[in-house]
Amino acid sequence: MLACMAGCTTGVQQSMADARIESLIGRMTVEEKVGQLSLYAPAGVDIVANPQAAQQSIDQQMADIRAGRVTGLFNNEGLEGKRRAQEAAVKESRLGIPLIFGADIIHGFRTVFPVPLAEAASWEPALAERTARASAQEASADGFRWTFAPMVDIARDARWGRGVEGAGEDVYVGRQFAAARVRGFQGSDLSRADAMLATPKHFAGYGAAEGGLDYNTVDLSERTLREVYLPPFRSAIDAGALSIMSAFNEIGGIPSNANAALLTGVLRKEWRFQGFVVSDYTADEELIAHGFAADGREAARRAFMAGTDVSMQSGLYMKYLPGLVAAGEVPKSRLDDAVRRVLRVKARLGLFDQPFRGLDKQDGPRFDAPAHQALAREAASRSIVLLKNEGDLLPLPRSGKKIALIGPFAGISDLFGPWRIFPDQAPPMGIEEAMRSRLASPDLLTVVRGSDVDAPIAGGIAAAVAAARDADIVVLSIGENEQMSGEARSRSDIEIPKAQQDLADAVAAAGKPVVVLLRNGRALALEGGVRQASAILVTWFLGSQTGPAIADVLYGDVNPSGRLPVSFPQTPGQVPYYYSHKRTGRPQLADAPAQMYKARYLDATNDALYPFGHGLGYARVRYDALEVQSGRMAWDGSLKIRARLSNTGRREAEEVAQLYIGARSASVTRPVRELKGFRKVRIPPGESTDVDFTLSRADLMFIGQNLKPTVESGPFDLWVGPSATQGLKSSFVLVPE
Ligand code: NOJ
Repeated sequence: MLACMAGCTTGVQQSMADARIESLIGRMTVEEKVGQLSLYAPAGVDIVANPQAAQQSIDQQMADIRAGRVTGLFNNEGLEGKRRAQEAAVKESRLGIPLIFGADIIHGFRTVFPVPLAEAASWEPALAERTARASAQEASADGFRWTFAPMVDIARDARWGRGVEGAGEDVYVGRQFAAARVRGFQGSDLSRADAMLATPKHFAGYGAAEGGLDYNTVDLSERTLREVYLPPFRSAIDAGALSIMSAFNEIGGIPSNANAALLTGVLRKEWRFQGFVVSDYTADEELIAHGFAADGREAARRAFMAGTDVSMQSGLYMKYLPGLVAAGEVPKSRLDDAVRRVLRVKARLGLFDQPFRGLDKQDGPRFDAPAHQALAREAASRSIVLLKNEGDLLPLPRSGKKIALIGPFAGISDLFGPWRIFPDQAPPMGIEEAMRSRLASPDLLTVVRGSDVDAPIAGGIAAAVAAARDADIVVLSIGENEQMSGEARSRSDIEIPKAQQDLADAVAAAGKPVVVLLRNGRALALEGGVRQASAILVTWFLGSQTGPAIADVLYGDVNPSGRLPVSFPQTPGQVPYYYSHKRTGRPQLADAPAQMYKARYLDATNDALYPFGHGLGYARVRYDALEVQSGRMAWDGSLKIRARLSNTGRREAEEVAQLYIGARSASVTRPVRELKGFRKVRIPPGESTDVDFTLSRADLMFIGQNLKPTVESGPFDLWVGPSATQGLKSSFVLVPE
């Protein structure tokens, strides 16, 4: 019987479903079984999200569906096509097995929420759970019951374009957001009409691509894989995810799509995963390009035998698995296992009982669109990170000051970010419109583009400088466009594109106070006029409500409360750059003078320009009175930690207090710090609040010399503070058993 994970079907219901599935399996031909393992993009629909693969014609695809050779379709838009395909499957195929419709619902469907990296900056997993829930409600009302999300890859190299789809560099934050998003997509019960099956991806290590180049080789120690890259997947599965996507990349010579140690060893044997594994797009066929399979037949065999149950788009399983089974090279039992996993999940989704649910126009909208827009605004404003605010330049005044809004992102382009492949239901509002609506007089705002994203405009800089001179404050809206992050969108350089940097430098020279609004899908290396600006806000890609959310923060209606989920380095050459690094044998300590023969660059310090966890609000918060319950933690005990946070400002503060630990010595070297908890709290002006944490032995776990989870007694440092490089420090000893 299936474990009861996302909501509970009763034992009796489950065994009836199991009996029905076994009876079906007993009646299926080998080809029909392989059909349940074959997933395709719909023929004749142009969704720009993947390279073109050899698409069948619509007629051929419909014939295949009638013949039971297709398990589902993905990323197709429109109810009509889905309904026709489902009718062919349910009413015209021999066994009437329903199709499942999947899609990359990454940060919204009709309402566009902030990109996942931005939402991680809220440090509010509960917020990400709500936006995932809303996305599932919208997409399931359009017949989609399966999302290829969340992406839970840890990303420590800002060049990698896909970091924008995940929760950043940290394992603890990654785990919290992975679980929250799965809960949001799947809801409390997978059989409900508005539940979507979640697919944590890309299993595994995809974010560790060499040079930050998408699809590139990964070579990781098993320890780092287990300690850093696998835990978010484990959290997603523990939260109930019943499908998982095997990745494009190899690790140490073994492509993940055909990695038995990962797909069968870790997933099935160690973690007891009950769902099915779907390949990434044509990843089985790509085993040939990897040089891991000589031809399609070998590729299909290797991927399938390693544990990839469902093949996405290549058609290789349909072409070769029947022959491989007939030749005895693929056991029938392996085929039946894979089919059983898929059918069980289809049953859990209620597809057998109600295959047309969500596919009828008459079903009408089953979600509250205005409420979702309000949620998009809330999520967007809470994802913004204030990096600096010299002289309290922000919030901006609504009257009495002339503002020049300069840069290529003032309007409504590039609000959404990657993976916005379905049409929005409400026209988005950009920064210019939103700012103008806040001003006492609309002509206090002058808007000058100044530069294109990647190229200068004739006379652009001169016009921008003139506007800056004529204004009291400059708001500079610069950064990356939507094409600069996401799949296949790695950059070799993480600086602001040159044309915009030239604009920023020229505008800075005009001498007016500058607020930078960064549009970005990654950590950036900030230079010159951008770095020196008085105030900097990281505004990512915030979705449908970008303009209103930014204006909310600019004018102080919302106090910025985001914190960086990725470190901003000093220079682009420092990447991969992340806070939780090892010490080395020759550490150059942050507060010590630079020395030769230490682990440092000649031309940059090792500090982040803005560290992981950093972010300011409009009030100041003081940390003091750190109390650690005892200097000793018993082996089976726990340790309570408390710090006092005081709002010394005149506005409400919202603070993210972060708990870090660092083992002084162990049988395997440990990072300088590791995040072990955080609390986001509101503090009224002039008041104090206590934040509490509890550590136990499990929090001190690492992967030992034997590659197994290990805890060792000994001294630990701990910090409670506002970022990965600050905080009040204390220590404790874990006493031996
Ligand atoms: C390739 C991407 O790597 C994956 O994340 C996505 O789900 C599939 N294409 C399907 O669009």
